[in-house]
Amino acid sequence: MYCTRAVTDDLIWIGASDRQHPVFEAAHPTPRGMAYNAYLLLDEKTVLMDTVDRSVQTQFFENLDHALGGRPLDYVFVHHMEPDHAATLGDLMLRHPEAAIVCNKKSVNLIRQFHCTDPAGAVLVGEGDTLCTGRHTFTFYEAPMVHWPEVTVSYDRTDGILFSADAFGTFGALNGILFADEVDFERDWMDEARRYYTNIVGKYGPQVQTLLKKAAGLDVRMICPLHGPVWRKDLNVILEKYAQWAAYEPEVQGVLIPFASIYGGTETAANILACRLAELGIRVDMMDVSVIHYSYVLSQCFRYSHIVFAAPTFNNGLFDSMEHLLRDLAHHNLQNRTVALIQNGSWAPASGKLMSQILGEMKQMELLQPPVTLKSALAPGQEDELEALARALADSVRGVCRVREEEPAADKPKGFICTVCGYILESDTLPDDFVCPICRRPASCFQPLT
Ligand code: FEO
Repeated sequence: MYCTRAVTDDLIWIGASDRQHPVFEAAHPTPRGMAYNAYLLLDEKTVLMDTVDRSVQTQFFENLDHALGGRPLDYVFVHHMEPDHAATLGDLMLRHPEAAIVCNKKSVNLIRQFHCTDPAGAVLVGEGDTLCTGRHTFTFYEAPMVHWPEVTVSYDRTDGILFSADAFGTFGALNGILFADEVDFERDWMDEARRYYTNIVGKYGPQVQTLLKKAAGLDVRMICPLHGPVWRKDLNVILEKYAQWAAYEPEVQGVLIPFASIYGGTETAANILACRLAELGIRVDMMDVSVIHYSYVLSQCFRYSHIVFAAPTFNNGLFDSMEHLLRDLAHHNLQNRTVALIQNGSWAPASGKLMSQILGEMKQMELLQPPVTLKSALAPGQEDELEALARALADSVRGVCRVREEEPAADKPKGFICTVCGYILESDTLPDDFVCPICRRPASCFQPLT
């Protein structure tokens, strides 16, 4: 039985949600399931935007048959060839040999590699190419590495819809809702949107910024991603988050303490540090990296301005779960954070040096002070070291805040820059109702010039 929802008068969501598989891409836990979106446009030509993961193919094909209502399928836009969207493309080509695949050259190679066939009669599109389907005209924009090199987004100039591939997606099954405004997105979905972004495309911030600049030049009124809810209202909510995430800017001025602890000595020190920070009025959180999946910890590391890594030495090396986290942070290009370390080792502490080495390979990671060293557990009198670390962190956190508050001061450059398109407003003040003349983003997207 079909299960579809109308997106607009002539656009139908024909995707499906998978709640059976506990992990996405064999790596990321999906306790809330995963949505695989596909869309069918009923114009003078019929257009399918992508297919779905094999896990939901039965529902997808029932949805497609129903939505087509007996019409032939004219076009299939392939925005992204990763199998969570294109695993069923081979089956689709067999069921609908009349459909022309619309994709770029890189996708043709991937279709050949994944499906052992050439897409006969493919319509090749590149940057800025257009295709008219009747009432609608689409323009194609390349978005390499958001998330694979072949990724293309398409923009429906008629209705202002951006088909954004993985961009603006989230983890999570849709559970009946389709639009972001049908839920409290900030409260119930933003954490999963951040975890999706940071783990899937977090490594490719500059490429995401390029896509944001392209989108800023368009009159985007709706975003249809391949995962998660569709955005038809308050698009700035997600656009502003993407601008921040892609620039590796923290959302929270505070301290995150990811820790690993074998027998509790390191955890106790982390607990005491967290207490001192809270007493100093600093926002603080702790995450046990041996218990919490690294995808969640990585997401929070992107969120916080300051991070204290606390871990024991193990086999003369760094404890596995902390090493995995730090390697993952490096692989995802996390940068521009202030960090501190707590190391533990009962006879030859080495974890601090090893954590420093990994952090040293990353960009703009400022080590606040030498590691606090534990030998098995916090020794009497060492509370003072944690107290000093807490004060140094608090000063640093407040320093970040203070600098930002002081930016409009008289001796600073006068002006504000649009974080989306780079437009500079030369002015002492930024009116609340100011709109960027280039990308039409609101005043909230501007930052004072530094
Ligand atoms: Fe949702 Fe990169 O695939």
